[in-house]
Amino acid sequence: MLEVRDLTAEFIREGEVLRVVQRIGFDIAAGEAVGFVGESGSGKSVTARAVMRLAPEGSSIRWGGRILFKGQDLLALSEREMTDVRGRRIAMVFQDPMASLNPVMTVGQQIDDMLMRHMSLSGAQARKRTVELLGLVGIRDPEHRADDYPHQFSGGMRQRVLIAIAVSCEPDLLIADEPTTALDVTVQAQILRLLMRLRRELGMALMLITHDFGVIAGMVERVYVMNNGEIVESGAIDTLFAAPKHPYTQALLAAVPRIGTRRSA
Ligand SMILES: Nc1ncnc2c1ncn2[C@@H]1O[C@H](COP(=O)(O)OP(=O)(O)OP(=O)(O)O)[C@@H](O)[C@H]1O
Ligand SMILES: [Mg+2]
Repeated sequence: MLEVRDLTAEFIREGEVLRVVQRIGFDIAAGEAVGFVGESGSGKSVTARAVMRLAPEGSSIRWGGRILFKGQDLLALSEREMTDVRGRRIAMVFQDPMASLNPVMTVGQQIDDMLMRHMSLSGAQARKRTVELLGLVGIRDPEHRADDYPHQFSGGMRQRVLIAIAVSCEPDLLIADEPTTALDVTVQAQILRLLMRLRRELGMALMLITHDFGVIAGMVERVYVMNNGEIVESGAIDTLFAAPKHPYTQALLAAVPRIGTRRSA
């Protein structure tokens, strides 16, 4: 479903060009769960943003290569065509939930908006679906909570709301960028379980990004290891766990307590 070839990403600042993704290639099949692992600054978020064709706020990026989504090169689409893909076909849960939610709109309004814009639902139909979605991601008393503002939710609940927004249009691919980093361990496990359940129920592919091998164990089938803007190793997760080839992968795995035991996520 997704075939990425020779992808490069370059930040342009005051005439200077800084290449942070170096001609990488990867694939994600329909319905497949794929992990991206690497230390901070290795280029995971920029790679994920490439698939959404979104530069970080306030920065300018030049993308290169091809991102074929169902055979269509996303890098060749007009901004308008890309707007239809974003949210509707490919959705992303960003690293920082507070920054991704609008503080002056209720969470219900934010989900309604997505549904009215992308799914052509009326206001009343959208609200009905919004309440269902909030229930689906495990928010209790969703009818009432829909009228609350983001600051009235806990960190874990905000992450659930973001996931509700991301899956509202039933995308083919959900990108989750460190969806649990800011959360405590118990809540992390709940959010990961939620992502797995939604992936199964909605038949989505999942691109799960993390710096922690422990997080993706038992979550994904295949993994790409990123270092310094390059993919240094890839393969089936079990193979990689059992016999990592690249020294960088070995070092990452050595940082995971008790390799080989699967977290009960
Ligand atoms: N807005 C920006 N302007 C300039 N350089 C940036 C910007 N955002 C990221 N970078 C650079 O791009 C490279 C890749 O960053 P990226 O955010 O993709 O890393 P990451 O693997 O997601 O790290 P983390 O695990 O900390 O989230 C880094 O060298 C970083 O310094
Ligand atoms: Mg990141």
